[in-house]
Order: sequence, then structure tokens, then C-alpha cells
Amino acid sequence: MRFKNVPSLVALIVTLFSAATFAQRTDSIPVRHDVTLPQAHKGTLEIDSLLLDSYVRLPENSRKFYLEARSVFEENEVDFTDERILSTAVKNGIPLISGPMLGDLKENSVTIWFRPASKDLIEIEIADLAGTETKLYFFNPSVAGQVERIVLGNLSSATKYSYFMKIQGAEVANGTFQTASKIEETSEIRLAFASDFHKIGLHNPNLMNAILAREPMAMLLLGDLAVDDRDINLSMHRSDYLLRDVSQAWKKLAANVPLYATWDDHDYLNNDLSGLPKGVTKEDREALRELWSENWNNPENTAPGIYFNSRIGDIEVIMLDTRSFRENERRGAYTAYLGEKQLSWLKDVLTSSTATFKVISSGTMWSDYISDGKDSWGTWDTLAREEIYKLIERENIPGVLLLSGDRHGARGFTIPRKSGFEFYEFGPASLGGVPGPEAIAKDSSKQLFGYLGQGLKAFGEFTFTMEEEDAAVTFRLIDEYGNVMEEHKISYNQLIPNQ
Ligand SMILES: [Fe+2]
Repeated sequence: MRFKNVPSLVALIVTLFSAATFAQRTDSIPVRHDVTLPQAHKGTLEIDSLLLDSYVRLPENSRKFYLEARSVFEENEVDFTDERILSTAVKNGIPLISGPMLGDLKENSVTIWFRPASKDLIEIEIADLAGTETKLYFFNPSVAGQVERIVLGNLSSATKYSYFMKIQGAEVANGTFQTASKIEETSEIRLAFASDFHKIGLHNPNLMNAILAREPMAMLLLGDLAVDDRDINLSMHRSDYLLRDVSQAWKKLAANVPLYATWDDHDYLNNDLSGLPKGVTKEDREALRELWSENWNNPENTAPGIYFNSRIGDIEVIMLDTRSFRENERRGAYTAYLGEKQLSWLKDVLTSSTATFKVISSGTMWSDYISDGKDSWGTWDTLAREEIYKLIERENIPGVLLLSGDRHGARGFTIPRKSGFEFYEFGPASLGGVPGPEAIAKDSSKQLFGYLGQGLKAFGEFTFTMEEEDAAVTFRLIDEYGNVMEEHKISYNQLIPNQ
């Protein structure tokens, strides 16, 4: 037998296999209305209405409620407690304006966030999957339309629970989650992460189902998410949050996966804007921060601002605010990017954390490979960036992984250091499938992979394994049909600076 043609045969088999593997799943829902990125930035009534039904037509009562509430927000400076918003919710049979959204996952608790349309009694029933542990929570909202957070506590660690929410006895939502493992018992943790829904991706049921199918313990959202270019129009920020909260696809994700979110330029103000640009006051910034905090379910362990750290099992999650603390007039100077206080907090968290792995998110890129640091560390504060890298090396802080968003598409890089040590950065800025810069840097020697943004609807995932001999993290890039596009395993040893 001659083997001369084997390579081409193998290539053919690989091609056929790939075609089958990367084919769209038959149960996927086709997009009905493609909304472009410039349209999302504009966010007119017509565009927002297209998003409502971009995959599946929204139930008529939700659609009417959103459109009526949107017109109130567009014409008035009001919040969700406004009588007109509440009465249109009640009239259209919407007992829960927003949520539930899960967050702040611990070994023995999870925090559930929601915004009821009335002061009616709320009941949350929670049970482990075996049905041996059940708990009932009763809650009377003090103000209709105001966000509420309830800590579902005294739970068992590493246990799957389902929950049901009822208002006046009628079920309004349900979901599942799994509590974190005790740190000494952690063997594997899976976290999803990505950025840049740009409103569009929030309505994509295929993407949400693909995330849910991987059963991540939690998901980190790294900016450019629900609000798009609303500047200091707080009412339209609220309108965009409502557009998120009526999405059936979003509801499914938020009710079943604890979420941790930070903002980037489009959530904060507008394209590439940060700090206090012309016309934005300190009071505006404070109001934007408050509005952001109100509309996400983040752990609140720092003040002021929206950066935080949180322990999920044996993972230290550190999420930075790389927008609102920037000092525009000091661009390029030490501390101009994070601000003095946040930088010193970050250093403290890094040096004191006992977690095996530490994940640090930045709204914009750590490395400068794709856009020469256009709107990120590289042109804002290389001194502080170097200080952070040096601190990790000097203190031999192991297990640090860098995440970033903003540059649409998906890329992975190493950041080599003089000692030979390399940091790893992953940036799946692909939740909305919107166009962005080139996929591969001019110098691709430090690039692990690169995909263009247009049409790429995908998310990133870390699977951490903690076995003593074989601790490692595997990064995967997964598309909206569940196909694994990239897989990179990094051993824990590779993440120890001084080996
Ligand atoms: Fe973006």
C-alpha cells in the first residue's frame, strides 16, 4: 500500500470533520433582524425596537411595557419608581420589571437581584436538587420599582439548587445555581467571561444557551454591555437597562449564572471617553457610578467606585474600573489610568490574596499589540502597568491571569518579561459579533490566536483544575453553537514568576 497521499487524505478528513463540527446546530434560532454596531450606538426607538425582536418576537405584554416605559424615559428625567413606569408595568401584567439576576456567589450563599413593579409580597423558594434541603424567603419591598437584593444564605457548599420566585402566589421566575466549593475542597471551577454585547448580543438566545450549556459557576462581563453611548442622559441609561431586562435570552442567563460586571467606554459615556471629559462633572460621574451599581449585582466591597475583588472558591476575581478614574489632563502619567486609590488597592489585593489563581480584568487591553495602546494602558499609564507586573514578579505571586475587553474580535497573547516569565492575556470581545480592528497583530510572535469581530459571536471560558501535582487552567473560546474554537492549557507552574 502506498501512503503518499495520506497527508492530503488527513487534510480532507480534518476539513470534513471541521465542517461538521462548526456547522450551525439544527436547534439554533436564526437572526431575524441584524442590527449593526453604528445602529446600536445610535439607539433610536426604531433600532431598539428591532433589537426587541431580533431573534424571537417578544411576548406582546413585554413589548408594550418596554415601548411605553421607553417613551417615558425618553421624555422625562425619571427612574423606575416613577408612577408612569409602574402603572404601565402593572397594566401590561409585568410583576417583575427586572431580574432575577444572580451574583456574589459564595460557599454558603448567593445574592439575588430584582426590581419589582409593586410592593406585593415576594416569595422565594429554594431547594437542592435532591429535594432534601428547602428554604422559603418572604419579602415585602419597601418601594415599588426600586432594586432589591436578597442574600440567600445558610446554604450548603458545592451544591446545586433550584429556586422559584412568586409574587402574590404566582410564579414569576425560576432558575438554578451551584454554590462555590470550600476552598480546601475545590477540585475544578469553570468561569465564563467576555465583553461587548453592545446591546445586540443580549438578545441572542443561541449565545446564552451555549454559555448555559457549559454550566459555568459564574460569568465575568468585561464592559460595553447593555448601555450604549447614552452620555449623561441617565434616563436613557435606564431605558437601555430595561431593553436588557425584557430580553428573554438575557433573563435566562442572569437567572442561572451569577454575574460580575465592569464597565467600559460605551457603558460609561461614549466611544473612547473616560474620566471627566468636557461637559461631565464630578456629580455626573457619581450619578453614573450609582446607576451602574444599581443595575448590576456586583459584590460591594470597595467605595467609592465600581471596582471590586471577590473570592469564588479558590479563584480571586479582581475587576478593575479602567474608565471613571482616568485623569484626562494627566494622560500618560503615573496613576492617570486607575487613580492612586484603585492602584494601591489592587496592589494590596494581589499581595494579600491566598487564592491559587487570580484573574484581573481590565475594560481595555493590557498589551499594546493590536492598537498600540490607543485607549488603554499603553498610552495611559505604562508606569503603573510595569509596577503591577514587577510586584507580581518580585513577590512571586502565582496564578495571575489577565483579561481584557474593548477590541472587538477575540485574541490571546503572552506578555514576555525580561526574566523569561510570561503573563497571559485573553480578550474575547465577541458577545455582540460586531466589527473591530485586525485579528492578528503586525508582530504575531506573542499571539496565541486571533479572530475578527464581525459575525464572531463567542465567549471565553477558564476551567481551573486544582490537583496538587497537575494544577492548570484551560482557556477555551466557544462560539454561539457550542463549538470550541480555541483550547489552550496553561499549567500552574507556568504562572509562577520565579521558578
Ligand atoms: Fe466595544
